[in-house]
Amino acid sequence: MAGEIYKKPIMFAIVSAVVILVGTAVTMFIPMMTAQMHPKLEDLKPYTAIQLAGRDIYQREGCNNCHTQTVRPLKTEVMRYGEYSKAGEFAYDYPFLWGSKRTGPDLARIGRKYPDQWHYRHFEDPQSFFAKSNMPSYGWLKDNLLDPIDIKRHMDALGFPYTDEDISLLNGKNELDALVAYMQIIGASVGRKGAVRSKVQLDAHEMENPLAGDPAAIEAGKGIYEENCAVCHGGNGGGDIGPSLVDNVFLYQEGDLEDEDYFEMIYNGTEEGNVEAGRTMKGGMPDFGEDLSKDEIWSVIAFIRSLQNK
Ligand code: HEC
Ligand code: HEC
Repeated sequence: MAGEIYKKPIMFAIVSAVVILVGTAVTMFIPMMTAQMHPKLEDLKPYTAIQLAGRDIYQREGCNNCHTQTVRPLKTEVMRYGEYSKAGEFAYDYPFLWGSKRTGPDLARIGRKYPDQWHYRHFEDPQSFFAKSNMPSYGWLKDNLLDPIDIKRHMDALGFPYTDEDISLLNGKNELDALVAYMQIIGASVGRKGAVRSKVQLDAHEMENPLAGDPAAIEAGKGIYEENCAVCHGGNGGGDIGPSLVDNVFLYQEGDLEDEDYFEMIYNGTEEGNVEAGRTMKGGMPDFGEDLSKDEIWSVIAFIRSLQNK
């Protein structure tokens, strides 16, 4: 009996086709129908009207030709950009905008990395932030008003929920507003910080600034400040997009913070709702732990203290 089937080519072809089809159905199609294969993240919500409008502009302007929106699960990527991308994050992305070319940095974790103001200025003039940037200026987007009727149609087509009020909020808003709103929601359901990305919490013996008052460190700190901090905190720490560093209000409360608190904020960045020294953050300061060495961070703190005459 055994071996018989090998002598009947047509029968053999049919039987093997059936076996392969059953195998495919069991291992592929059945799992595709189950909910586990379509994970949604708890915090993930459909795009609001203005975010969706921004997403459409992102596609129209071809931002995805220079920017990816997916962090691969590789340690170097996670260190640079934050937590790697999860399948569920893209449940409302029609179509997804993962992209494949990184002329500019990945944007999967851009949401809430910077304050809105930062984006407005960066879109207006990327080269004033990074002299060698080849990103074009998008300041002209603010001259184009949004078309609420068109956006409403798009919401309907995708089946995203909205109220008439959401649509009326679009009146008077321009395309740049929409693009910034979209930037701030990208990746927000996961958060920017990766599990692999190390957060610093200083030990007791490290809490004093070893470079406090050192003239060479202050000079070095000035250069680091001008390159990394001045865009948000102003030329002499007077404040701009970010708060003033030379007044007596820190994290929205009267009274200074310790050097170690400065250090942790600079190393880790800030996130809405996190607490430092009993004060609640609003978020919007990027982390510098991967870019600056410990000595560089202490130098920049020594420089800030010199601005404060301390
Ligand atoms: C020609 C390529 C190019 C195009 C097109 C482009 N960018 Fe960029 N983008 C860059 C480069 C290079 C950088 C890094 C330097 C800088 O910040 O200007 C960058 C930086 C950024 C950043 C800051 C990222 C960070 O983590 O600091 C954002 C946000 C951004 N781009 C959004 C956009 C959006 C939105 C569009 C479309 C409207 C766009 N870019 C179009 C090349 C491009
Ligand atoms: C993209 C803008 C941005 C950049 C760049 C930036 N910061 Fe900040 N910074 C902020 C914001 C916004 C806050 C308020 C943080 C919060 O509420 O979570 C802040 C808060 C601070 C604070 C607490 C001060 C206060 O009054 O609350 C210090 C100290 C500080 N930053 C230092 C630095 C240093 C040093 C650098 C450069 C290495 C830097 N920042 C770069 C935006 C920025």
